Amino acid sequence: MVYQSILSKVGNTPLVHMQDAGLEQVKLYAKMEGFNPTGSVKDRSAAYILEKLLRSGTINQDTILIESSSGNFGVALSSYCKSLGLNFWCVVDPNISPENEMIIRRLSDNLIKVTEPDHSGGYLLTRIAVIQRLLRDLPNCYWINQYGNPLNAEAYYNSLGTEICEQLEGIDYVFLGVSSGGTLAGTSRKVKERYPKAQIIAVDMQGSVIFGGIPRKRHIPGIGSSMVPDILKQALYDDVILVDEVATIEHCHRLLTKHYMYTGGSSGSVYAAVRHYFAGRVFPEPPNVVMIFPDRGERYASTIYNEAWCDSIYDQVNKLETV
Ligand SMILES: Cc1ncc(COP(=O)(O)O)c(C=O)c1O
Repeated sequence: MVYQSILSKVGNTPLVHMQDAGLEQVKLYAKMEGFNPTGSVKDRSAAYILEKLLRSGTINQDTILIESSSGNFGVALSSYCKSLGLNFWCVVDPNISPENEMIIRRLSDNLIKVTEPDHSGGYLLTRIAVIQRLLRDLPNCYWINQYGNPLNAEAYYNSLGTEICEQLEGIDYVFLGVSSGGTLAGTSRKVKERYPKAQIIAVDMQGSVIFGGIPRKRHIPGIGSSMVPDILKQALYDDVILVDEVATIEHCHRLLTKHYMYTGGSSGSVYAAVRHYFAGRVFPEPPNVVMIFPDRGERYASTIYNEAWCDSIYDQVNKLETV
């Protein structure tokens, strides 16, 4: 099979059966979304949303598409927009990694970096204020809005959800990390439709407010949010597990050394949640447990896989605990 563009190869990512010491009571599977063309689960929503918007005539070659993202969605959108000849402006903040900034700068039409933190100390509200100004000032402008656009959830309902249902005969549990809520909303609806008894477990980071947690500075991108996403209303989940950054780092390292999986932060969070959830539990028949691993480790080389950076996170945690 020869492809005309790497971007046409979205989805059909590998599902890997893992043998994990301490989790012999379940059948454990990892869905490796880092195998998507631009390196993450966000390829699915970027490709799907743009295709739908073009087909419906909502956008065209003259529209300026705007989105606020310092991470995988910005990378995916800038790639797909460029390949489709669409204008894309990306609003980012100083926490963007140098790797993502380089890619988005090269592939988008405009990268706007906010500098002023909002009253919570983060940048989300400042980024949204810039988006609102662009919507006012630019005549033909469309805000993709991953946190509120129903097409984001629809993308995962039609692709990731369908794929895991087809790859496995029976699903008992799905564990997924949450940020915009798109993966959770779409995948949960499809899996519950096919397997109504399946338990969907949402995994969030401590310091995120998505499930009512107390806001706190977070350092690992991709998982968690400082606002409650609108599309979460469409999600069907049975339980929420909050993971901390130390457990996330340790489980990323464990995935690498025990399973040769070089993954991003949220995969470590999901794996930590699974190990915690099933510890000491017994089942008459081992249930099928699916973990969604959203991206690969390369973009975290200077953070999660860098000893000095990890030490600085451990120091901050120790300080918090001794106060
Ligand atoms: C690494 C990573 N994990 C998890 C997620 C969560 O996905 P969603 O935004 O669909 O909730 C994202 C989203 O950007 C991500 O980049």
